[in-house]
Amino acid sequence: MLEINDIRAGYGEIEIIHGLSLYVNEGEIVSIVGPNGSGKSTLLKSIFALVDIMGGEINYQGELLNNVSTEKMIKKGLSFVPQTENIFPSLTVHENLELGGYVSKKKLKERLDLIYDLFPPLIEKRKKRAGTLSGGQRQMVAFGRALIMEPKLILLDEPTAGLAPMYISLILNKVKDINDIGVTILMVEQNAKKALAMSDRGYVLAAGEKKYEDSGRALLENEEVAQLFLGG
Ligand SMILES: Nc1ncnc2c1ncn2[C@@H]1O[C@H](COP(=O)(O)OP(=O)(O)OP(=O)(O)O)[C@@H](O)[C@H]1O
Ligand SMILES: [Mg+2]
Repeated sequence: MLEINDIRAGYGEIEIIHGLSLYVNEGEIVSIVGPNGSGKSTLLKSIFALVDIMGGEINYQGELLNNVSTEKMIKKGLSFVPQTENIFPSLTVHENLELGGYVSKKKLKERLDLIYDLFPPLIEKRKKRAGTLSGGQRQMVAFGRALIMEPKLILLDEPTAGLAPMYISLILNKVKDINDIGVTILMVEQNAKKALAMSDRGYVLAAGEKKYEDSGRALLENEEVAQLFLGG
């Protein structure tokens, strides 16, 4: 579904991702883990052309994405939930969801029903400003916004960042629920063990390079990976 070949990306003259290849099959959950500053966010942003691409190719459903506009990417079923500022805090939950995309009224109703179904805590909060919600609920709003446009592949950057421990598993379970309705997931996650445990496959990044790639389970069982990247 998504195939990245030898991508080099960064900011201006500074190359952060040094020739990295990765793929995601339809239906999978794939996780990217690695230390702070290793380039995980930069890699996700490169798929959405939000950073400078210095080389390599990004293919999505057999089509080169390098020069495709963001609008077209969204039309093709790609969606991105960034690490920060992924909702409008001063708008209500419902307004946030409605602004998630431009779809027909009928479609919007259909998608909203599905989203409230996936995230029941949002139902009674629908008229509350999103900024007043708990971190976990705010993340559900961000997921909801991404789901409005009926995405096929969602890129998630640290969906549990800043969440209280009790919300971490809850939110990761929601990621699983999103996958269960047929959405493919590529996610960056700091809770590496939890993320790999629920992932079909994973990649370990360090200093802008791919260090390991394997099934989620194999990475968890790899002693070197555990020692170096998963806290033993
Ligand atoms: N807008 C920017 N301009 C210049 N350099 C940047 C910019 N954003 C990030 N960087 C640099 O790129 C490198 C990788 O950052 P990135 O945010 O991709 O890492 P990360 O793996 O997502 O880290 P974290 O786990 O902290 O989210 C870092 O050295 C960072 O300082
Ligand atoms: Mg990051």
